[in-house]
Order: sequence, then C-alpha cells, then structure tokens
Amino acid sequence: MKIISTQRSQVLASRLAAALNIPIIDARWQKFPDGEIYVRAESPAEKVIICGSILTSDDLVELLLLKDIYNDSDISLVIPYMGYARQDKQFNPGEPLSARAVAQVLGRDVSKVLTVNVHEKSVLKYFNTKSTDISLSIPAAKFIETLSLENPLILSPDEGAHNLAKEVASIGNWNTDYLQKTRMSGDHVIIEPKSVQVQGRDVVILDDIISTGGTQATAASMLFKQGVRSLHTIGIHGVLTSGAYARLTSAGISSISCSDTIERACSTFTAAGALAKYL
Ligand code: R5P
Repeated sequence: MKIISTQRSQVLASRLAAALNIPIIDARWQKFPDGEIYVRAESPAEKVIICGSILTSDDLVELLLLKDIYNDSDISLVIPYMGYARQDKQFNPGEPLSARAVAQVLGRDVSKVLTVNVHEKSVLKYFNTKSTDISLSIPAAKFIETLSLENPLILSPDEGAHNLAKEVASIGNWNTDYLQKTRMSGDHVIIEPKSVQVQGRDVVILDDIISTGGTQATAASMLFKQGVRSLHTIGIHGVLTSGAYARLTSAGISSISCSDTIERACSTFTAAGALAKYL
C-alpha cells in the first residue's frame, strides 16, 4: 500500500504515511499555459490511498487526475475536507445538488471513501461505495486540554451543530451548550447560550467549519458583553476565507484553531491518527 496526495493535502498525507508506515508517492504538478493541471506520479501501486481536500475546483480536478493514474489499482479515497457538501439539497428550483454531483464522480471505481466531519452525513450515500465519516472529537478534545482552561464551556454556534460540541465535551467531562439567537426587534438580535451562564468562564466555540468567521465573530461580541473571561474558537475545517482569521482576532478571540484537514498556520491538531485507524 502507498499513499499519494493532491497539492492541497501534502502535510496530512505525509502524517498518514508515517502513521501507517507506508511510502508516499512523489508527484510533480504543473500547469499548462492555458491553466490546465498536469501531474506525473511515480510508479503505479497495487493498493493506493489518494488523499485530497476539496476547497477549490482545482482540488477536485487534481483528485480526478490521481484517480485516473491509478485506475487499475485498489483505491481508498480520503477526502479530509469535502467542499460542496454544504449544498446537500436542492434548496431552490434550478439548483444542483452539488454534494451528489461531486460524490458520484469521486466514488466511482474506488473501494472506499473516508471523509472527516463532513458537513452533512447524508451526502455519503452519493458516493455509491463504502463510505465512512470520521469525527475528530478526540484530537479536538486533546487540543483543548493543552489550552489549560479552567472548567471550559464548549459551545456550538447553533442547536443543529451541537452534536460535535457534546461529543468533545463528554471526552473532557466539560459543560456544553449551544448558542441561541433571539430577535428582540427588527434590528436587534441577542445571541446567548441556551441555558448556561457564561460570566467569568473560559469558553470554546466549536464548529465544523470556520468559513468567513462571521458566525463566531458575532457570537464573540455578544459573549464578551455577557462577561466571558476568555474566548477560544475551533473549527474542524479552517476554510478561513475573506479575512476570517483577522476578523476573529479583532473580535478579541484568544486562540483560533483548526485541524490539518485544510493545512493552515493555525492547524493545531491532526486528522492522521483518526483516519489511519480506518485505512
Ligand atoms: C454552516 O452550516 C457551518 O456549519 C458553519 O457554521 C459555517 O460554515 C460558518 O460560516 P462562517 O464562518 O462564514 O460564519
């Protein structure tokens, strides 16, 4: 068994190679003058893990090209961050079900697919092959321990996202709650934890994705007004678009962290160990 990665996921793929004690395949990536992607990889392998997060359309094309190189091999496909998973329904007439479009093409001719804290688990069925979503609740909880917080409260930004916060909180034996939005008037909204008082507490807001950081920055301003002692934010996937990191820093958040499903300077915990158990 060997592993190869797209350009997006080199660090995580190297960590997976180390965790599984398998070689990582060298690949040379280039672009043609018209922008098309070209790749040439080392020798074929009987069994291969292809690892690549999808943040951009090029990431998706890189995965397709790698799949084609190894089309005679037994492929396990690891998609640490599955972009397009948020369009998991046709919300309006005339829209694609993007998660299905992406999953159907990626799942073809592979033995299994692994995702990590995919935004909506129901999209796994579109891979039409064995597929498993891995939760990073344990590495996230271990990272929270390193922050040395006093009796931290693990908050999710809304009730829908509360399962992940509950999983992480139960590992550390911490309190958990979710943020609830109450509209007081046309232009006045209060965001506060559903039932736990935050005054004087160390709080960690945990979400599957930090994209623009808008959700967490808005929550931060409200939580500071309610007297939190310190505020930390964790997104399993650090999409961090549109100046998100700076937005969160200027909102007064003490630490901003994510995993290496998207490799960032603030990637403080790895998905490698959790993924390796399933490969
Ligand atoms: C939404 O469905 C996700 O779970 C996140 O809450 C969302 O992507 C966060 O977005 P932003 O960082 O732009 O507020």
